[in-house]
Amino acid sequence: MVKYLRSWVLLGLLCPLLEALEPVAIYLTWVKDPTTTMVVQWQTPTGTTLPQLEYQIKGDSTWKSAKGHSQIVQEYDVHRIYLEGLTEDNVYLFKVQDSKREYSFQTMPKKLTRSVKMAIGGDAYHAGASEIFHRMNRMIAFNHPDFIVIGGDLAYTIGTKNLLKGPKWAMARWQAFLRSLQRTIGQGGGQDGRLIPLLPLVGNHDVNKLKDKTDKPELFYEIFTFPEVGKAYRSLDFGDYFSLVMLDTGHTWPVEGDQTVWLENTLKTKQPFPYLLAAYHVAAYPSYYPYTEGNAVNIRKNWVPLFEKYQVPFAFEHHNHTYKRTHPIKEGKVDPSGVTYLGDGSWGVHTRPVDTLKKTWYLEKSGSINCCYIVTLSPEKCLIEAKNSQGEVIDQISKPPFWVDFIEDGTRFSR
Ligand SMILES: [Fe+2]
Repeated sequence: MVKYLRSWVLLGLLCPLLEALEPVAIYLTWVKDPTTTMVVQWQTPTGTTLPQLEYQIKGDSTWKSAKGHSQIVQEYDVHRIYLEGLTEDNVYLFKVQDSKREYSFQTMPKKLTRSVKMAIGGDAYHAGASEIFHRMNRMIAFNHPDFIVIGGDLAYTIGTKNLLKGPKWAMARWQAFLRSLQRTIGQGGGQDGRLIPLLPLVGNHDVNKLKDKTDKPELFYEIFTFPEVGKAYRSLDFGDYFSLVMLDTGHTWPVEGDQTVWLENTLKTKQPFPYLLAAYHVAAYPSYYPYTEGNAVNIRKNWVPLFEKYQVPFAFEHHNHTYKRTHPIKEGKVDPSGVTYLGDGSWGVHTRPVDTLKKTWYLEKSGSINCCYIVTLSPEKCLIEAKNSQGEVIDQISKPPFWVDFIEDGTRFSR
């Protein structure tokens, strides 16, 4: 009897330790080719496990192993493994070191032989609006996206209200944000229980203001990884059919200067892609903030002429906590051949009042509505549906792919 009791006591002591080996949060992203790579990231209390995992194509009998590196952030290890040489459009299973759970992900196709789905929205996990965030996550999961893009202000860790709360609070908030995504959009919520890769954009509530920039690393850049360290502006190409250009509206890098030069070079090289979209945080054509606000003016001056020149059909904007669609705009006027701006950052926030359509020449639709976009790319068209948290389509727009016949002076033409 004593022996029996002793083993129960031992098990009781061990149980919390066993539990501690499960990741606090696990999340995926891409910094390279989404058809052949995946970045697996997870967090555990410091010193409890190693950055190793095993993976296989679903249905294979053998497991391969992969190693990465860990970075200490607060009292946690952020583990990161860059998987390469994967096969396109395949489901992979993986198990991280010391975890009992099996996770899965899917690589993207090289050709648009099936529809590819992106969910995009911004201003996600606002304090006091977590129920809206969870509800929107469930709506997104129900739509089975291949990946999600969050257009800045992900977990609202930076801001005057949070000044005195400290880095431990911020880390816990990032973890709560990632766990909610994992539970709803990822494991258990996504298609076949897959984890869905996340492409984060930077917003004003993710990092300290540009003028307050120090050498101290920002949590945002320690939790997420990017093709270049400390640079959230980048582009990502999906096979031969889609390029997504993601920008930083002056939070870590200024809009003008290097980033604008990079944007022009990037848009020039992406001209052959039939689908070319842009996404960033602060809106060039806001539905709540003033049209004359400095950053919006700066974006219209530096980036908008490039979107027009290189024929980006749609740009996703956020930050306003509303829903909006602009008329197509070119050279400061409504023009059917112009760029349509979609937004406006209301994933998981309490919405704000919008400017009336009568007062604002560029808005075609707007509302105080929580919304995210489901973008479906197929050989026929790019379909963009704005959905509220109940999954109702509140607006939709589509455009056929741009099949390039020739490129002259860096700009594409179709006959
Ligand atoms: Fe914002």
